[in-house]
Amino acid sequence: MNDAKEEIRARLAIEDVVGQYIELKRKGRTFEGHSPWGVDKTPSFMVSPEKGIWHDFSANRGGDIFSFVMEVEGISFREALEKLAAQAGVDLSKYKGGDKEVSKKKARAKEALELACKYYQVCLAKNKPVCEYVFYKRNLNRATVKDFRIGYSPKEGKALVEFLMKKGFSRQEMADAGLLNRFNGDMFRGRMMVPFIDTTGNVIGFTARVLDKSEPKYLNTPETLLFNKGRFIFGFYQAKEAIRKNGFVVIVEGNMDVISSHQAGVREAVATSGTAMTEMHLKALSKLTDDIRLAYDGDEAGVKATERAIKMAGDLGIKLSVISDYGGAKDPDELIQKSADLWMKAVEKRMPAVDWLLEKYEERFDLKTADGKQEYSDLAMELLKYLPKVRQRHYRQLVAEKLNVEMSDLSEAKGDAKRRLKEIKITGNGRKNDGILDRILAILIYGKVGDAEDFEIPKEKDKLAELEMVFEKFYNGWTKENLEIEFEELNKKAKDKIVDIEIEELKAKLSSLSDDEEDKVNEILQKIQDLQKTEKK
Ligand code: UTP
Ligand code: MN
Repeated sequence: MNDAKEEIRARLAIEDVVGQYIELKRKGRTFEGHSPWGVDKTPSFMVSPEKGIWHDFSANRGGDIFSFVMEVEGISFREALEKLAAQAGVDLSKYKGGDKEVSKKKARAKEALELACKYYQVCLAKNKPVCEYVFYKRNLNRATVKDFRIGYSPKEGKALVEFLMKKGFSRQEMADAGLLNRFNGDMFRGRMMVPFIDTTGNVIGFTARVLDKSEPKYLNTPETLLFNKGRFIFGFYQAKEAIRKNGFVVIVEGNMDVISSHQAGVREAVATSGTAMTEMHLKALSKLTDDIRLAYDGDEAGVKATERAIKMAGDLGIKLSVISDYGGAKDPDELIQKSADLWMKAVEKRMPAVDWLLEKYEERFDLKTADGKQEYSDLAMELLKYLPKVRQRHYRQLVAEKLNVEMSDLSEAKGDAKRRLKEIKITGNGRKNDGILDRILAILIYGKVGDAEDFEIPKEKDKLAELEMVFEKFYNGWTKENLEIEFEELNKKAKDKIVDIEIEELKAKLSSLSDDEEDKVNEILQKIQDLQKTEKK
């Protein structure tokens, strides 16, 4: 596979690949443009054709053509490889060994599913009562139905099978696509069909809903060569651009919630289809954004799901929050049926997930009693241990105050600035430190200033090339003396960032409080002021 990678790299110019997404201008030996993430006022995106790498100073990320396409499209390495291979005219099948058979099967299954999807779409258009359900009962408009490729599977037992047979597909190929039931007839009958679309636009399966009250309500494609439910994110294909542009994602429970949400103008919504969220889901989403908002029920299942998410998010550098105020509606779809505006507001009015959970725990126990305090702190500490150190400390403090005990009674709180500096790099997904750490490393390595012992020096070739580019852009020709001053100042700034994160968290908390919680508001304002004072010193 490395040969294929090299071949593609040799055939494609990085400025052409990047140039498909952002406008680049030549500047000496490099190209510059605006970041495809976030809102930079001055161009902060650089490409070095010589080194074959890119670096984004505002989002503080970088890499080669593969990582660029992965991050900008939010797709896996494999998918990026396939996409770029097609552009480069490289035939990947030449580069792999035994799985030719499998990729042929996959390709046929994809073709069958695409045809099935089109067939179902046509069936919907021809069936009046079903249109009634889709357009009036579910309130979906034409654009939404087209966008999500919604269709209808006829009641007759073999309608699709016969259609696909005429198109030259064998039973085995239909089975591989997950379109057959146990009796070799149509898997889906008399249901509203919603295709599962992968990150590059291929139909890989379906979720199918009954039109009445019968059971099961939804029937989903089983695991196949193409469809893996632990990995699949419903709505991702339609949402990824909005997620990248607006910098957040909303995870809802139902597929219909996703569709309604998009129609209501919140196009950042996705769902994990008929399964609990997995680490693979979270990792895939965290490539596009670090602001992940969970729109789960406030019931026990919602609490469990949120706990799981927090634990999985651990060191992925994600900001998790919870959207919980549906104003009495059962799910986002129901809220949207009342008013799209209310849903938009709910998505804005969110609460940091840990705060939300701590509140849920608080409701569970009587914190005036010794037992209640113990149980509350056990649960809280169990949760907090999954958090990065800075956040952990922040919440430990809150819990200590809530229980009126010393922080040291809960457990040891420590961490010197240098160690925490390293943690920011890991936990902040590189986004938090505005490139400060990269600059520090660039000076350290290419300016030969500072003590390398204090930092984790990256080993990857591409990362080093990137740091060299950072050094050239900012520090070319600087004297040793000036570099030393800069190095010291950057280190100080990095420490301030730690305080900034705490302040940011407090502000988020503040925005989730209502006006009548004046005591709490004042308390938090005081803390923010105190932190700001330490920052000025
Ligand atoms: P819900 O029962 O909350 O459905 O299940 P919903 O999304 O609100 O659907 P509508 O509004 O009644 O049409 C939430 C999710 O659980 C999975 C589906 O992925 C659904 O979106 N589910 C539910 C199934 O897989 N099978 C079922 O029978 C029911
Ligand atoms: Mn619903």
